[in-house]
Amino acid sequence: GHPHIAHRDGALHVEGVALDALARTHGTPLFVYSKQWMLDALAAYQRGFEGREALICYAMKANSSLGVLRVFAEAGCGFDIVSGGELSRVLAVGADPKKIIFSGVGKTRAEMRQALAAGIACFNVESEAELDVLNEVALAEKVRAPISIRINPNVDPKTHPYISTGLKGNKFGIAHDRAVQAYQHAARLPGLEVVGIDCHIGSQITEASPYLDACDRVLDLVEAIEAAGVPIHHLDFGGGLGIDYNGEVPPKADALWQQLLAKLDARGFDQRKLVIEPGRSLVGNAGVCVTEVLYTKPGEDKNFCIVDAAMNDLPRPAMYQAFQKIVPLRARAGDAPTYDVVGPVCESGDWIGRDRALNVVAGDLLAVLSAGAYCMSMASNYNTRGRAAEVLVSGATTKLIRRRETMEDQLRAEIDG
Ligand code: LLP
Repeated sequence: GHPHIAHRDGALHVEGVALDALARTHGTPLFVYSKQWMLDALAAYQRGFEGREALICYAMKANSSLGVLRVFAEAGCGFDIVSGGELSRVLAVGADPKKIIFSGVGKTRAEMRQALAAGIACFNVESEAELDVLNEVALAEKVRAPISIRINPNVDPKTHPYISTGLKGNKFGIAHDRAVQAYQHAARLPGLEVVGIDCHIGSQITEASPYLDACDRVLDLVEAIEAAGVPIHHLDFGGGLGIDYNGEVPPKADALWQQLLAKLDARGFDQRKLVIEPGRSLVGNAGVCVTEVLYTKPGEDKNFCIVDAAMNDLPRPAMYQAFQKIVPLRARAGDAPTYDVVGPVCESGDWIGRDRALNVVAGDLLAVLSAGAYCMSMASNYNTRGRAAEVLVSGATTKLIRRRETMEDQLRAEIDG
């Protein structure tokens, strides 16, 4: 599961770099990412699409740090953005606007103008009302906005309810039954240019079947939409491929795409341009969060291992009861009592792992694994905690890509008196 993150000579390494030395230099909590891991993950998708016209748009919400974006931009990757802020970030690292697509249910007029001015490849429109507003904004700017409509294929991705998005009854996309009508409406609006169709069924999906089902439903719709006179140039299947947090074995990106391409070919869509929006599967397992044990606290019911990372750094356990492995940087010989690993934040929900066998004393360093996606990008300043530092590792070289947030950084926007 983690080819570039492993114990060597008794110490946990990211590529050629021992994490304990890095933690001494930069302090904790510290996020550390393997560049090679990201490039390998991207290469699996690229292999899957070999010989096809396909655009891989990294869903940068998973990890939007400039140093991470730069890795993908330099590898020729496109980007899926969900805000004007994400657009600014990705333009700052030199991304090609022609490889940027814009998702999200609540785009503002200002964000639409910003994206039109940049000349992005496609807006993934999520409602009929948004079609009308985007049309207005584009006409006022004297341009045509390239659009896809996100349709809701109503398949169950079999994942956590908070991260499943392709079922009826959630806020995303346009219902299957309304899709043809919505496309006909879009085609009549002079400020819009229909370029594609889009879907995204959820996140941390560990089976191929929901993708194959969604693919069939999307292709059915494309046939109906084209029969109604609206040509669809590209097919966007969203993101959502899961990673190994605790022994899950999701399909490999290239294998999944071999299956999907076979289906596309069998149904006569072999020439169609493809777009995907993977986030977690490109960065999730590339990162760890190094944290120091502050105290161990034996209790009647439970033992607590109190660490210096918290729900503001690693929000996934608190938000989704998510599991992330926790391993000592250096193993100690002897018995491993069972601990709940918790942070310093004043909430019972501030836990990182439950019932973990760990042989640790105060001062030891632990790594929370699979911390490359949806950790730093979701970090907050709750409890007036500064956000962690981040280091990108490539071979034996390390680069600080974000310094630890200072108190001055935190107070910058505030007005006192
Ligand atoms: N495209 C769209 C329209 C999305 O909404 C998302 C993620 C993606 C692509 C990328 O999905 P991925 O390949 O990363 O699964 N914070 C949650 C995950 C939220 C996912 C939001 N949308 C978590 O930590 O599990």
